[in-house]
Amino acid sequence: NKGKYEHYMQKEIHEQPESLTTTMRGRLIRGGSCKAKTVLLGGLKDHLKTIRRSRRIVFVGCGTSYNAALAARSIVEELSGIPVTMEIASDLVDRQGPIYREDTAVFVSQSGETADTLLALEYALENGALCVGITNTVGSAIARHTHCGVHINAGCEIGVASTKAYTSQIVVMAMLALAIGADTLSNQARREAIIDGLFYLPRKVKEVLKLDKEMKDLAKLLIAEQSLLVFGRGYNYATALEGALKVKEVALMHSEGILAGEMKHGPLALVDENLPIVVIATRDSCFSKQQSVIQQLHARKGRLIVMCAEGDKASVSVGGSSRVIEVPHVVDCLQPVINVVPLQLLAYHLTVLRGYNVDQPRNLAKSVTTQ
Ligand code: UD1
Ligand code: M6R
Repeated sequence: NKGKYEHYMQKEIHEQPESLTTTMRGRLIRGGSCKAKTVLLGGLKDHLKTIRRSRRIVFVGCGTSYNAALAARSIVEELSGIPVTMEIASDLVDRQGPIYREDTAVFVSQSGETADTLLALEYALENGALCVGITNTVGSAIARHTHCGVHINAGCEIGVASTKAYTSQIVVMAMLALAIGADTLSNQARREAIIDGLFYLPRKVKEVLKLDKEMKDLAKLLIAEQSLLVFGRGYNYATALEGALKVKEVALMHSEGILAGEMKHGPLALVDENLPIVVIATRDSCFSKQQSVIQQLHARKGRLIVMCAEGDKASVSVGGSSRVIEVPHVVDCLQPVINVVPLQLLAYHLTVLRGYNVDQPRNLAKSVTTQ
């Protein structure tokens, strides 16, 4: 049931304040004055000791689920102190890459039925790793075959383009980081700041959704373009990849997410006064580097659309030529949840304006159960 919405993708984008609330329900514990705030992931509590002892955490997924894991990678590394590596499921299987008994392998999948991810799971089980699932579908193959896991509880997702599952996956993996790091005293203030951020997150997502009209106007400007680049780094490299994936799969427009640190190693050659480029420059430890990326793109006459935190417009504007999208600021590791929303809206509006099928893009299936 689409309710007041025209398409499922639109509905699912707009219901993110609620889906995120459901994802966190019963899992965030706000202590009293002297009790620490903490998270409780029922499905993992008996396995946390084993996870903490593992030599490595390997995130495995495809498409949007891979991007969500990439968004959470650095907070998991920071709070757990365990190295985290990333695997695209098909590539892990193609390479028969090394997976050991001392590894915790985390399988991220909205449907829980993706063939590539399932094959990678079988492979990791054979190699003796602890296998953890993060899925939206109770009773799915991945939920059944993993040793333990977390249901993201985002509610049924119907649009082929994953939107609300992406933001809920990131939140679950941030909670996973908090749970693994929960016995480390030195991290306590940081953990509490993130838990506070989680409490406020649905409200901030509601705020960022108010950019709907602005993103529709931007889509009108970009309707006839051939290509769109999205530059991000740090926590928001994943946002760049995910924004580009959305534009590509539903609006059928070529789009590429680019790690801004790689700009001078090739992509800069593409920059001219015609090619639109989104630069994500919200506040985190990479902000000044992104300011310099903006300067350099501007110096090559790049057609820039800059995403920055509210109040930062002046700090990211160059010569009045760039367009600026201001988004609410949240704690750095949760900022990807906010930043992806305008890009989801942009992809949605571009698709509708270009007259393509939003919920069923050509050639794609919601659940990819073949290799
Ligand atoms: C569980 C209940 C929830 C109830 C809550 C109350 C289910 C599905 N969930 O939620 O309805 O409100 O207790 O305490 O009955 N699992 C995997 N692989 C996966 C995902 C999950 O093995 O990919 C396992 C978990 O390890 C766990 C079980 O499935 O044993 C349920 O996981 P989850 O729903 O996340 O647990 P709770 O949040 O505790
Ligand atoms: O169900 P899964 O999360 O395992 O699906 C993985 C990908 O097929 C999926 O995310 C795909 O990239 C989406 N269509 C992206 O919107």
